[in-house]
Amino acid sequence: MAKQNKLKVKASPAKKFFVSMLTRDIDLSDAILDLLDNCVDGIARAKKRGEDTSRSYKDYWARIVATPEKFEIWDNCGGIPKKVAIEYAFMLGRPNLETDSDIETVGMYGIGMKRAMFKLGQESNVRSQTDEISYDVTITKEWLNDDDNWDLSLQPSNATFEESGTKITVTDLHPAIARQFSEESTFLEDLEKEIATHYAIILGRGFSVSLNNQRIKPVDLAILAPRNLDSSSSIAPYIFVGQFDDVEVEVAVGFYRPLATEDEEDEMSKRSMKENAGWTVICNDRIVLYNDKSPKTGWGTGGVPGFHNQFIAIAGVVVFRSKNSLNLPLNTTKRGIDTSSEVYHIILPYMQTGLKKFTAFTNDWKKRPELTKEYFSELKLVPAHKLPAKLLKPNAGSKIRKHQDRGEGRFFAPELPKPARVEQRHRKICFVALRTEIQQVADHYFEDEPTMEELGRACFDDALEQARESH
Ligand SMILES: Nc1ncnc2c1ncn2[C@@H]1O[C@H](COP(=O)(O)OP(=O)(O)OP(=O)(O)O)[C@@H](O)[C@H]1O
Ligand SMILES: [Mg+2]
Repeated sequence: MAKQNKLKVKASPAKKFFVSMLTRDIDLSDAILDLLDNCVDGIARAKKRGEDTSRSYKDYWARIVATPEKFEIWDNCGGIPKKVAIEYAFMLGRPNLETDSDIETVGMYGIGMKRAMFKLGQESNVRSQTDEISYDVTITKEWLNDDDNWDLSLQPSNATFEESGTKITVTDLHPAIARQFSEESTFLEDLEKEIATHYAIILGRGFSVSLNNQRIKPVDLAILAPRNLDSSSSIAPYIFVGQFDDVEVEVAVGFYRPLATEDEEDEMSKRSMKENAGWTVICNDRIVLYNDKSPKTGWGTGGVPGFHNQFIAIAGVVVFRSKNSLNLPLNTTKRGIDTSSEVYHIILPYMQTGLKKFTAFTNDWKKRPELTKEYFSELKLVPAHKLPAKLLKPNAGSKIRKHQDRGEGRFFAPELPKPARVEQRHRKICFVALRTEIQQVADHYFEDEPTMEELGRACFDDALEQARESH
């Protein structure tokens, strides 16, 4: 057979097509959070270099400016080392998945920074400064339109920041993006809430993030707990701690407020005040699911009832940590969980066991939630993610017997008070009266509008006092 000349076939991606595909499936807010994730990963690397093993993020900041003219994110999180910039930071995709394998980061794919810049606009500049160098890498409209040239140049710069860090500036914003950064849109308010939620743990530990000069405050995450786990008559949370392969896991579930009374349940459904109930899942300090009430976190499956207003007082937290972010139960956007993750499968039944304790307690006391008040008065709100380490001392609790090939775990399951004991001493009084007369009595005892329960209680306390005095 005659020798044929081999001809080259073009198989490289068309840049414009590639960029538009890359940015299409990601929300603008997720793209911006990817940039903040890079800042936080930068802190983890800087702390590792400085051999700082604390969990504090104090003195680190990121400042975001978003206007119709430009987007900018500036941080003091260590900068991008020159070697990293030259070898892979600007590549589309990580050439080596082992990068950062000894640090708790969430960067995994090597795409976030570039995708965010492309999503935002047509001209970007990355200025970064490390101990060693200060430089700029610029992406222009011309580069974006040139299919053949995939290289960028790194330009040493004389401009210096006071501290090592990175400033990414994007101009020539796409019109749809500029609109979302304008006053016409509520996008920036929503972004602020997302940052307050997603980074609540990190903000709580001192990282300062501002959006258009406003410092963002973290959302609250707290569960009521006794001082220690010995007090048997108390409403202690269910706690689990374990390690499976290279993933550390901690779970705490309990009440964050007293049980809802019947009056409150109605009002809550109206005012949708159930925001604080549900499961929060944290991966390497990022909140990836906040107050979830769906089957994803065990509600309505495995013998646990579906979420209902009656369960408004229940909150739980699951903390995953790993130096290998690919083993965390994160979906590809990192803003949700991957329920098919192996470690999540291991942990979900324990979450459900804990959850059931509190749904059962709520059901047991459904008709007389007011009788549980004395139990709640002994408890204090504690940051939920700190509870497992604070309450379950090393080697305390019961050992799990399953999953021994994968790792080990210990748990504490509280014995929550049952109504029978209290019921012997209490009875419920209930009757119907004319609305006009109820109003008269309410005006007599209260300045504002009491609930029916409060009104009944006030009348009863008054009558009881008189009865006692007359004896
Ligand atoms: N603000 C920053 N501070 C320090 N280093 C940064 C910063 N932003 C980016 N980098 C460096 O650039 C690299 C590329 O960032 P990029 O977000 O594109 O990918 P990644 O974080 O590795 O993975 P992922 O796509 O999962 O986010 C990072 O791995 C990091 O080394
Ligand atoms: Mg990243």
